[in-house]
Amino acid sequence: MGARVRALLLALLLWPGAAGYNNPFDWTVQFGEVTSKPWFWNPWTYSNLYKVVDIIINPKYVRAFHDIALLRLDSSVSFNQYVQPICVLSSNSKFLHRPDCWVAGWGVLDENQTALPPPYSLREAQVTVLNNTRCNYLYSQYSFQSLFSEFSFCAGSEDGKVDTCSGDSGGPLVCDQDGLWYQVGIVSWGDGCGRPNRPGVYTNVSFFFHWIQMQMSRSALGPEPSRPLLLALLWAHRLLRTA
Ligand SMILES: *[C@@H]1O[C@H](CO)[C@@H](O)[C@H](O)[C@H]1NC(C)=O
Ligand SMILES: *[C@@H]1O[C@H](CO)[C@@H](O)[C@H](O)[C@H]1NC(C)=O
Ligand SMILES: *[C@@H]1O[C@H](CO)[C@@H](O)[C@H](O)[C@H]1NC(C)=O
Repeated sequence: MGARVRALLLALLLWPGAAGYNNPFDWTVQFGEVTSKPWFWNPWTYSNLYKVVDIIINPKYVRAFHDIALLRLDSSVSFNQYVQPICVLSSNSKFLHRPDCWVAGWGVLDENQTALPPPYSLREAQVTVLNNTRCNYLYSQYSFQSLFSEFSFCAGSEDGKVDTCSGDSGGPLVCDQDGLWYQVGIVSWGDGCGRPNRPGVYTNVSFFFHWIQMQMSRSALGPEPSRPLLLALLWAHRLLRTA
């Protein structure tokens, strides 16, 4: 079990090495890139890079709980055909039980940590958001009292054939509705990867709607009103069994 490098929305985080996680100056955000290892000579490798000026960790964050942070960038993001903002709602009930939401990431392919092969393209998969009664039932062996409270939910396929894995944490769970995309979840953790009855666990973005709004309005008071804030995951966990 350990912390892993995270994706941020559909952006690429360039992990600088051994420094702490929460120093904004150690992080760079890139948009519109689909490979996690851009070719050195590719001109896109060095474009659309943004400096991070602030990392706002949810004050209630403890390991798998309230697993959300916001990044403030040093300038506004230029949108184009491939780089677009995403909507966040204060309720996600209309996405519950829908079988056609998507998760994306550059994580490993299975519990054996099989790495994503070249050209390291972003992978995506369709998952169903389950209700918390179901999630608590499926994870009841953990005897945590209500592991799934409103701040997180589980999603996947019950046969376990579709799931996120190590390295996907921080990535988005998105659903489309009438031509608009909504970010419903953030990949957080899971019990192994792709096991039957062990759907992946996601931060419930709707639960943090007001917190996100508050942070954004605070940043709007600053000298540069349009600085964007991005959702990100703080610590990424997968409870990988060793046996
Ligand atoms: C992981 O490796 C073990 C031992 O080599 C193998 O038996 C198992 O099928 C592999 N699992 C996956 C998901 O690839
Ligand atoms: C939760 O989902 C299960 C199926 O996954 C369903 O049987 C149950 O009725 C749902 N409960 C609520 C409260 O929606
Ligand atoms: C997510 O949070 C919202 C707002 O608190 C809540 O209404 C909803 O039931 C939660 N979703 C799940 C799947 O738990």
